[in-house]
Amino acid sequence: MKEKILEMLRSEGDFLSGETISARLGVSRAAVWKVMQKLKEEGYAIESVPNRGYRLSEATARLCLSEIRANLPKYHPWRDLIRFQEDVDSTNTRLKLSASQGAPHGSVLIADHQTGGRGRRGRSFASPPNMGIYLSALLRPQCRPEDLMHLTCAVAEAMVQAIEDAAGFRPGIKWTNDLVSGKRKLTGILTELSLEAESGCVNYAVIGIGVNCRQELSDFPEELQEMAGSLHMVTGGPIDRNKLAAAMVRRLYEMDQNLLSDKAAILDAYRRDCITLGQDIVLLQGEEKRYGKALDIDSDGALVVAFTDGTVGTVNSGEVSVRGMYGYV
Ligand code: BTN
Repeated sequence: MKEKILEMLRSEGDFLSGETISARLGVSRAAVWKVMQKLKEEGYAIESVPNRGYRLSEATARLCLSEIRANLPKYHPWRDLIRFQEDVDSTNTRLKLSASQGAPHGSVLIADHQTGGRGRRGRSFASPPNMGIYLSALLRPQCRPEDLMHLTCAVAEAMVQAIEDAAGFRPGIKWTNDLVSGKRKLTGILTELSLEAESGCVNYAVIGIGVNCRQELSDFPEELQEMAGSLHMVTGGPIDRNKLAAAMVRRLYEMDQNLLSDKAAILDAYRRDCITLGQDIVLLQGEEKRYGKALDIDSDGALVVAFTDGTVGTVNSGEVSVRGMYGYV
């Protein structure tokens, strides 16, 4: 009955009286009331107004599998491969474990929070409850690792599109794969590859994406407050995390369809969204700093830089951190 009521509220999009719901389902109004209380407890944002009835607010507070699925096309190929996990250290770590136990291509693991969220270069990734989306997807492309040099760029571009679909604005990409708005980072991406020892071919790739959705500035740890941001801070409105999680799955699926066949088009789109290009930048490698101007993205997703000593070179994302001349972006 819970699912049926949710379905009715979703398709109505406006207030629906308790009387109408009970008549359509052939149950008592008390039974409808009970289900509404249950849904509220589960985190659904249900408004109840005397003489008008019940309405499901557009951005339901809680991230949950049924709502993510409700935002996906009915026959989406990855629909049944999505899992939602309550207690998770890191969705990437968990999905890598599932991958080693044979989980199929297209498996997706989503969490509302993580106790050990991992970022690039061994850093942690703040993943508090009720704020963001922490999603990992498993791909098993049949290729060599050098064919996937552009993978993180492709994921970043797919996430730009997902955020535009669900939150209505287009973030920029700070090379390689941080999504930003102004000077603030909204999304981080960590891609991990496993290779087959004998053939050297790709065994699997786990793509992990963390999106800051609902935070206010004060919700971030103090040391991040200079450079972290959330989708809510950009739009000023509510963010429907279930809609966004579904958009992320859809865009990742589309990306996967074109990943090996449409590399040039993917990188062209990436170049258009990459805010690093044309900027004066600092490259950080350990203690060493090098200054230059970001010129282009090459055909593998590496950054082409004109250094201040007059040389031009390419840098790969694994090697260096890039900062703007006056801060993170
Ligand atoms: C970074 O910005 O350094 C990358 C952050 C990647 C965070 C995501 S959240 C989902 C997945 N699980 C993790 O532990 N990390 C990634």
